[in-house]
Amino acid sequence: MKIDGKYALVTGGAVGIGLEITRALSAAGASVLVVGRDRAKLESVGRLTPRVTTFVADLTVADDRERLIEHVSTGATPLDILVNNAGTMQYFALTTPDAQVRIDRELALDLQAPIHLATALLPRLLERPEAAIVNVTTGLVYAPFGNTPAYSTAKAGLHAFTRSLRWQTRLSRLKVIDLLPPAVATELTARYDGPKIGPDKVAADLLEGLRTGRDEIRPGQTKALYALSRIAPGFIFRALNKQADKVPFDP
Ligand SMILES: NC(=O)c1ccc[n+]([C@@H]2O[C@H](COP(=O)([O-])OP(=O)(O)OC[C@H]3O[C@@H](n4cnc5c(N)ncnc54)[C@H](OP(=O)(O)O)[C@@H]3O)[C@@H](O)[C@H]2O)c1
Repeated sequence: MKIDGKYALVTGGAVGIGLEITRALSAAGASVLVVGRDRAKLESVGRLTPRVTTFVADLTVADDRERLIEHVSTGATPLDILVNNAGTMQYFALTTPDAQVRIDRELALDLQAPIHLATALLPRLLERPEAAIVNVTTGLVYAPFGNTPAYSTAKAGLHAFTRSLRWQTRLSRLKVIDLLPPAVATELTARYDGPKIGPDKVAADLLEGLRTGRDEIRPGQTKALYALSRIAPGFIFRALNKQADKVPFDP
């Protein structure tokens, strides 16, 4: 895919991995609509990065998602690349009194929102001469953390949905891409002490994958995690969870 001249939507594109994806797409000549809740952060990315417009939405709220879909569907510009990046990762015990509330909230952002946006915007993307849906999952789909139960569930579900979507659209011009980062140095992993790569590296790998037409992009340690999960799944699951167990539960 050629990036120059394309129109992209990046959820959670004002900080972390999303910000680097926004910067990389913009530097390659794409126009980017960045979505998030924090107006100040959105304004800052809008000021610093060329060809960026912004939209305030809480993607856990179905009405906000509908507003965004309406905005994109009725806007003057087309949509070529949807990047479902916004996400959260919560450490909690399933015995916590409000466990079900936490699960519902996390599944809304990490699973329902990307599925809703992908499904609603699919007809528009299928009309384009070149288009892509990028779902940001995680290397943890190969070995989930036990202490982030909603995250593990959501990302495994999104990984499966991505494969279904790719299968159903295989005869179209749409590329359906799964981006599976390892631990990345952002706010999301601030309390996790394992090795991390920079979010710019993840964005660079995505741009390379978009250009070359990759289905699954496994930056940094995700490559080794993928291989190990095939050879020694029990070993890698226990090793990763011993590391993750050091992170205290969220309040
Ligand atoms: N960091 C890692 O190690 C890592 C590894 C693998 C996969 N990932 C995945 O990569 C993606 C980005 O992660 P990150 O590390 O860059 O996280 P981050 O720095 O915490 O950024 C999260 C982004 O999501 C947005 N967001 C959060 N809640 C939202 C809501 N309710 N509605 C709309 N936007 C919301 C935030 O914007 P607002 O606060 O303005 O809403 C922010 O832009 C996530 O899907 C994550 O699961 C991260």
